[in-house]
Amino acid sequence: MPELVVGPMLRYVDETDASVWVETSEPCEVTVEVGGTRSRAATFTVHGHHYAIVDVSHEGTYEVRLDGEIVWPLPDHPPSRIRLLGPGGPRRVMFGSCRTSVPHDTLHTISHGVDVLRAYGCTMMGAPEEDWPDLLLLLGDQVYADEPSSEMLEFIKNRRDGEPVGEIADFEEYAELYRQAWTDPEIRWLLSTVPTAMIFDDHDLRDDWNTSATWREQMARVPWWPRRVISGLGAYWVYQHLGNMSPEERASDDVLTRLCKAEGDGAEILDAFAEHSDAVPTDNRWSYSRDLGDTRLIMLDSRCARQLDPGDRRMIDPVEWEWFTEQLRREGVKRFLIGTSVPFLLPAGIHHIQNWNEKLAQGGWGPRVARWSERLRQYVDLEHWAAFRRSFEDMARLLARTDKPVIILSGDVHYSYVAKADGLPVYQLVCSPIRNPLSRTLRLANIVAQFGVATLIGGWLARLAKIPKPSMKWRIAHGPWFSNAVATLTLDTDPPSARWDTAAATEISEVSTVRLP
Ligand SMILES: [Fe+2]
Repeated sequence: MPELVVGPMLRYVDETDASVWVETSEPCEVTVEVGGTRSRAATFTVHGHHYAIVDVSHEGTYEVRLDGEIVWPLPDHPPSRIRLLGPGGPRRVMFGSCRTSVPHDTLHTISHGVDVLRAYGCTMMGAPEEDWPDLLLLLGDQVYADEPSSEMLEFIKNRRDGEPVGEIADFEEYAELYRQAWTDPEIRWLLSTVPTAMIFDDHDLRDDWNTSATWREQMARVPWWPRRVISGLGAYWVYQHLGNMSPEERASDDVLTRLCKAEGDGAEILDAFAEHSDAVPTDNRWSYSRDLGDTRLIMLDSRCARQLDPGDRRMIDPVEWEWFTEQLRREGVKRFLIGTSVPFLLPAGIHHIQNWNEKLAQGGWGPRVARWSERLRQYVDLEHWAAFRRSFEDMARLLARTDKPVIILSGDVHYSYVAKADGLPVYQLVCSPIRNPLSRTLRLANIVAQFGVATLIGGWLARLAKIPKPSMKWRIAHGPWFSNAVATLTLDTDPPSARWDTAAATEISEVSTVRLP
């Protein structure tokens, strides 16, 4: 009899449609029943795993059946609900990034802190529905393929020896990595009830993924890397990207169409697509946009879409950039939300240092300094928008011309803050990590380096390397906060506000609330 392996996960939701994603233990028919109305989809198979996404157009509590047998909700849990968006769009948008999935025992709570998303799930179960977020944006590092937990290492040890040691090798291990990340009962319930939109960051594939052309050359020489990148992008497509698409987008998606039509296992179809999307990023777009009432959400791929030619480095390749600028031309919306895993506005000093490092790594001070700068770039993660100065300036010019408020949401840096552009309604909100805090020493080092030393020497280094001043001015208005956190943007108040929450055990507590006038 088929069983649920992962999910149900409530994914794409708008005013009329919702999508429920599942992984099952064998091929079957998946039925989602809401208030007596049943919607169905058959599973497709990839690498021996079975998946389905079911479109629903009703609101209310729901059940999931596999070949007619009820498998969800789980006993002892509140029922899962589908809530469509109102005409005004989401009132509350929750976001966060960087979540390691390790056990919730004392030892791991000491090393990794409390999983704030899980604690939020516990709180939500007892809270009135009006207080629930309408949408959750996961902004990268949903899984850590390069730092598996001890459970994951055990799984790997039981199936193979050899390379890569202590890392994910293939689709089978990715499937287990996602299963472990998303099936704690509270997380599972939260993901069944709060719709999610996701975009990857480096650890979903590997630390420093696509930081530079040199990095790609180095990885191309690693024997196990081709299989890893193909599995990582294939698994990302199944576990994260599929639910990002609207029903219309899915209906015209070539990969899904072929997987659904495939006789038996569609692994070759998915692998070929993943391989090509890594080799020729301009042929595929992981970025997407959604109109949510009067808010347009644009989720930008700032990892796979990078153009890394040393002579013309760009955060977003020209084809995808053209798509992005088109999305910002939308008339009739009240605001834009831009999700990009890596922050656009950083503390000023570290912005200058990333500018300086990029110029030197490209040979600005000769080949020997270039090699040293590349090592520094990889070692301390100098890879945000500031490390792609041309793209930073393109974005700054674009935002300066937009008359609507723009709220940029990011993660990755393992601390949270708010930056505000001078004289423009442009905000950078950062929330990181959900569960992967810096040690106390590293927090102190970060404050000293990013907010102290970098401020003192960053501008000087940039001037020394003859780098023009950024065309946009901004300041860090609030933060940094270093605790594990999720943030919630409230959009139905005037002005909107954002609140960061942390957790102790299963109790949520406020870190800070910031108005965004
Ligand atoms: Fe990251």
